[in-house]
Amino acid sequence: MHTRVGILGAGPAGLVLSLLLAEKGIDSVIVETRTREEIERTIRAGVLEQGTVDLLVRHGAGDRALREGARHDGIELRFGGRPHRIDFAGLVGRSVWLYPQHEVLKDLVAARTAASADIRFGCSQVELRGLEGDRPSVAFTDDGGARHELTCTVVAGCDGSNGISRRSIPQGARTEHFRAYPFGWFGILAEAPPSSAELVYAHSERGFALISTRSPGVQRMYFQCAPDEEADAWSDARIWDELQARVVGDGFALQEGPIFQRGVIPMRSFVCEPMRHGRLFLAGDAAHVVPPTGAKGLNLAVADVAVLARALTEFFATGSEAGLDAYGPTALRRVWRAQHFSWWMTSMLHTPPDASPFDVQRQLGELDMVTGSTAGAAYLAEAYTGWPLDG
Ligand code: FAD
Ligand code: DHB
Repeated sequence: MHTRVGILGAGPAGLVLSLLLAEKGIDSVIVETRTREEIERTIRAGVLEQGTVDLLVRHGAGDRALREGARHDGIELRFGGRPHRIDFAGLVGRSVWLYPQHEVLKDLVAARTAASADIRFGCSQVELRGLEGDRPSVAFTDDGGARHELTCTVVAGCDGSNGISRRSIPQGARTEHFRAYPFGWFGILAEAPPSSAELVYAHSERGFALISTRSPGVQRMYFQCAPDEEADAWSDARIWDELQARVVGDGFALQEGPIFQRGVIPMRSFVCEPMRHGRLFLAGDAAHVVPPTGAKGLNLAVADVAVLARALTEFFATGSEAGLDAYGPTALRRVWRAQHFSWWMTSMLHTPPDASPFDVQRQLGELDMVTGSTAGAAYLAEAYTGWPLDG
């Protein structure tokens, strides 16, 4: 078996890359360890930047996001018991879309399958070989138990933060920047009507809470918790009490309902440099992870592969490696901006376990500056809605 681009991982990065390459007539094979059903039901991101939606629409995979997703022209920062709106549309003329990641994946898999793309779901024992030569390969066992070796011209490592691509780069050839946060996010899905027309990012004495939405009948909410919190140890009543306590003030209250999904998410910042090793190119969470407060992870994955697809198109058309050489540095500029933004949102809104009264007052001063100054609000609006995509 041979293909020009061997792609590890059918997440947002891998699927969008194969879509962009196919449009330029470049063949690829995706090797994925999970089944299609698992991928299509894993609950993750909710916020898509305008540029992500525009890219999906331009490439024929965004119609449902436009039809069934919801455009949000702002968010609410809630602190001191009161709401403060950040008006994205008014400040920077851009918006974001609420449309769940697993629905994006359903649309991408459907689009790629309709175009007869070669996607191998349910693979195991995936190994990368010969990355430093000009015929790298991906060895894997398919879902029927047969072993294969796929030779490629290049390999795209889109296999997420726990994949094998990054670890296939010798330790001496990569630098890893890592930061763990002393808290996690307790996330729930509940059958309830929306409590707010826009997302609410709440700072409170009890810590951070985020009120998001999925549909008129399903709401997504998160609250800051200990990193090792046991989600199953919490009753529904205790979860609602905690969420209500974090948004209390001016009469605002959450609409409650049965909780049908829950889990605890770790918070970390991570970047691996460089993003290239020989013929291997890392993209998305395989190369970098952000804490979810800025809603940037999926969007960064899409931004990476937009740059990579352009570089690969140039490489296959002309043989020039200039674009491939520039891929990592170009992608990393956006990655570090997003790292800063995600870290900043996290540190402004969460209460670390050892926070002093000074720390809390300093956060309130910062929130007052962001919501009370056009320049402060415009920075948040510009970063949250996303910088322009390459190409
Ligand atoms: P992944 O989605 O992790 O995909 C990698 C794929 O590779 C997986 O399907 C995996 O099964 C597969 N794989 C793993 N190992 C191998 C292997 N050895 N061989 C082959 N395949 C392999 N981002 C946003 O932009 N906006 C948000 O609102 C947002 N909210 C979030 C909320 C939560 C609760 C969480 C957890 C994340 C959130 N994110 C958000 C982040 C976002 O979900 C990720 O950044 C995004 O999924 C990264 O896409 P990816 O394609 O790089 O990696
Ligand atoms: C959602 C997730 C985020 O990380 C975020 O910042 C906003 C919304 C969500 O899942 O809806």
